[in-house]
Amino acid sequence: MIFANRYFPATRMRRMRKDDFSRRLMRENVLTTNDLIYPVFVLEGENREQEVASMPGVVRQSLDKLLYTAEQALELGIPMLSLFPVIETGKDNAAQEAYNPDGLVPTVVRALKQRFPELGVMTDGALDPYTVHGQDGLIDDSGYVLNDETTEVLIRQGLCHAEAGVDVFGPSDMMDGRIGALRDAFEEAGFIHTKILAYSAKYASAFYGPFRDAVGSAGNLGKADKYNYQMDPANLDEAIQEVAMDLEEGADMVMIKPGMPYLDVIRRVKDTFRVPTYAYQVSGEYAMLKAAFQNGWLNEEKCMMESLLAFKRAGADGILTYFALDAARLLRRG
Ligand code: PBG
Repeated sequence: MIFANRYFPATRMRRMRKDDFSRRLMRENVLTTNDLIYPVFVLEGENREQEVASMPGVVRQSLDKLLYTAEQALELGIPMLSLFPVIETGKDNAAQEAYNPDGLVPTVVRALKQRFPELGVMTDGALDPYTVHGQDGLIDDSGYVLNDETTEVLIRQGLCHAEAGVDVFGPSDMMDGRIGALRDAFEEAGFIHTKILAYSAKYASAFYGPFRDAVGSAGNLGKADKYNYQMDPANLDEAIQEVAMDLEEGADMVMIKPGMPYLDVIRRVKDTFRVPTYAYQVSGEYAMLKAAFQNGWLNEEKCMMESLLAFKRAGADGILTYFALDAARLLRRG
């Protein structure tokens, strides 16, 4: 006997961690393929595929090639694709191409829904691919993005996508009142099943850089920024107000974007509203992780899965992620 008053831990937390079976029994969160939404970049034309330099492993594809990608996603059990168009011709100041029924997005939506009716298809509600200046809306002479005028165009865009058969419309533009305006327009036109996933808390983030390269809006945007409509990364209460308004206006689902640096926002939104809540692990997060994987600095499979599981723990019901196909393959292997 060395110590008279020997101390034993009242609870040994490590007891439950010791064995695989007990670790599995006490696991609080799981990631499944049902949690994944796959963002894809679509090109005009045929038989085209381009790599995105700042997003290794991500490609822009024409529709014929995208159909194979969609088939893989469906086969792996991924519930939904999110379409992002690369618009090469027809950009203007009024973003008229955004509601062209024969434009790239409606064409791709029709083809995907015809070929794979059970695969969810989501489109992005915003004008940045279609404007010469790369802003998400129409601008005045000073460059200010006009709210209500932009909303009018978003309604045309939403109706155009709904007519093409899109399942989920995802306004990512951050105009005030657009969810209510879109919901009214959908109801009036009889699109009562068209779901709205509102990018409710979308921050003015530098993590979108590689995406703007991918869709080719970086050059158009130049040195301009999106601070007068996207949220200040310093704010949390403001996100709650945004989500509350979007829900009241008729959103079915809400999103927080970016993802990993904003897990606190996800948790707060989920705890406050208890509605279907999604996170977008954006291009810059993907680029950052990929760069470390390629350098051998981080373990690819482990860090990818850990990053996705973190969203579940934060309260997300699903994650838009460029890792969706890879993660689904890993989940299948078990
Ligand atoms: C544009 C849009 C952006 C993203 C999705 N939709 C970029 C932006 O707001 O400038 C970013 C996605 C990503 O970085 O992966 N409305």
